[in-house]
Amino acid sequence: MAKNIIVGQSGGPTSVINSSLAGVFKIAKELGADKIYGMRNGIEGLLNEQYIDMTDYIKNDMDVEILKRTPSAFLGSCRFKLPTVEKSPETYDKIIAILRKMDIQHFFYIGGNDSMDTIKQLSTYAKDKNITDITFMGVPKTIDNDLAVTDHTPGYGSAAKYIGATLKEIIRDALVQPINIVTIVEIMGRNAGWLAAAAALAKGDDCEGVDLIYLPELAFDIDKFLTKIEEISKTKKQIVVAVSEGIKDANGTYICEAAAQGELMVDSFGHKALSGTATALSRLVANKFGCKTRPIEFSTIQRCASHIGSLTDVNEAFLIGGQAVKAAFDGETGKVGIYNRISNKPYLMNTSIYDVNAIANVEKTVPKEWIINDGTYLSQEAIDYMKPLIQGEALPYMVDGLPRHIKL
Ligand code: F6P
Repeated sequence: MAKNIIVGQSGGPTSVINSSLAGVFKIAKELGADKIYGMRNGIEGLLNEQYIDMTDYIKNDMDVEILKRTPSAFLGSCRFKLPTVEKSPETYDKIIAILRKMDIQHFFYIGGNDSMDTIKQLSTYAKDKNITDITFMGVPKTIDNDLAVTDHTPGYGSAAKYIGATLKEIIRDALVQPINIVTIVEIMGRNAGWLAAAAALAKGDDCEGVDLIYLPELAFDIDKFLTKIEEISKTKKQIVVAVSEGIKDANGTYICEAAAQGELMVDSFGHKALSGTATALSRLVANKFGCKTRPIEFSTIQRCASHIGSLTDVNEAFLIGGQAVKAAFDGETGKVGIYNRISNKPYLMNTSIYDVNAIANVEKTVPKEWIINDGTYLSQEAIDYMKPLIQGEALPYMVDGLPRHIKL
């Protein structure tokens, strides 16, 4: 029997969320899917019946390959929290009615822990209402690497590679003048320090590495930070510090929040928009020591830097998209694809699926024992964990000197 499927992308973009989309598309085609629909802007768009037929845009293997290397979310994304069934049963009735109208048998959602809440709610609703003709599967994604159960997430390796590589360049630049300068680099990741931890990758036999790394897993003490800067400056003129956007003081107040004038914006999942930590700390350092400082916020650049994507990440993201399709076609529902690491050296992993209830809305943080040097650096174990994920070059298709992307 022909099967129609629908796939959506949700949450913040990454370099490889389209690679997972390509995996869903390619494997669904191979397994004989009839129509392959894409939600415009995730579940929010679907509620307004906004979708495309993906075969109108992805016509051949070359399009699949370019999609794999196109950053951000080809279908558009959303940060939309479904109301609970108790609050709004009509929302769920509406989604099921739309899916039935489109004759959908399999629903896929590519996203992070918040987006997996959509799979959790829909699959639970379907189970409770004895809806057995539609399956709901999650495909993991997030640069933050904060999903529970899975060894790592698609998107993390590429963002980590960008962070390691760009910090090497920042360090070369910072060391050029014989003056006192403190460069502070702010890295995304919200309440998990996985991405900021990737700053440790910059260090090697051709690079001095950053001097200090601060993760949100430990309370940030401003006085201790200033003392560290003072100590390092006794032997070194140029200091480079990496900080997570989500560092908080002992009272749980974000450093950027304390420095902000006015309230931070909050999204539908209750997350505060974090930005300004590097600027706030730079100001403190400049005021205290009277030296030159330079705040750098990687911001969205680190999410979609697919020109320096990790081939491992691109390939794994494709694999996990395809795996979700295979599992759904085998009748699985309410599950999310996960990576299982078998070994570091050589790097070996496989994929499987896991109950969405264990993954939705849960934030996995960096193990505290990986944070060393009085909370200012990462252990060798952390580096060994990250290193395999940044391997291989996912070189873009270059056209007229620039990477070629595919867009709606
Ligand atoms: O969830 C991924 C992420 O990139 C976080 O690291 C960051 O805090 C957040 O998204 C920013 O979201 P937005 O671009 O919607 O402000």
